[in-house]
Amino acid sequence: MELDDVMRTTFAAREFTDDPLPDEVLWRIFDNARFAPSGGNRQGAHIIVVRDAGVRHRLAVLGTPAARRYLAQLRAGENPWNPVHPSDVAQEIVDSTEVPETFITSVAKAPVVLVVSVDLEVVAALDQDLDRVGIAAGASVYPLVWNILLAARNEGYGGTITTMAIAREEQVRAVLDIPATHAVAAIMPLGKPTRQLTKLRRRPVAGFVTRERFGGQAFDG
Ligand SMILES: Cc1cc2nc3c(=O)[nH]c(=O)nc-3n(C[C@H](O)[C@H](O)[C@H](O)COP(=O)(O)O)c2cc1C
Repeated sequence: MELDDVMRTTFAAREFTDDPLPDEVLWRIFDNARFAPSGGNRQGAHIIVVRDAGVRHRLAVLGTPAARRYLAQLRAGENPWNPVHPSDVAQEIVDSTEVPETFITSVAKAPVVLVVSVDLEVVAALDQDLDRVGIAAGASVYPLVWNILLAARNEGYGGTITTMAIAREEQVRAVLDIPATHAVAAIMPLGKPTRQLTKLRRRPVAGFVTRERFGGQAFDG
């Protein structure tokens, strides 16, 4: 595929056919994705390839509590899990929120789930002393995560970055023997998508790019 097409059509695939994702294809995906950058080129990422159905199911279930809160906040008109405005949704409401089966099936039913972590001992977290949630460390792993999805798309496969289970990171670590110094960055179901989305809903360039300052003139080319 052309690079432009790959970038414009790599969507969040959550439903997969029964087709396998063979190791040799997965290897090619990794072999292309590994050229992603990381801060200081420290390359602290680690990927666990999970095919075991029992482990996939456990990972899917670990995402459920966070999904409960996500959905409850969404229904209350909040931006779920945002780190700026504390949630006004009562815990009883969160606890009684049903999580649709589809929330866990993508991880439970995908032929492969990748668990991507990053070694916090080697990332450059330039914002660690600021009075806000850290974001800079993620820049040392998410380019790799996204490269995986682009490379998978190029091979005719697809997947999704999922993050719900990160709220239960300790348990995810325990399931997979991930060292305590590693942060879990993504749990990615991968497989052959049942359908292909080609028109992604995204803001136009002028909707989020401005000239010279934040409130500057919209960049319309
Ligand atoms: C940081 C991040 C976290 C995400 N977490 C989840 C998740 O936990 N579960 C899920 O189903 N999708 C998750 N997604 C997928 C997004 O919902 C998806 O990329 C977005 O809605 C755009 O979908 P589209 O490409 O199909 O248009 C996540 C995406 C990103 C980038």
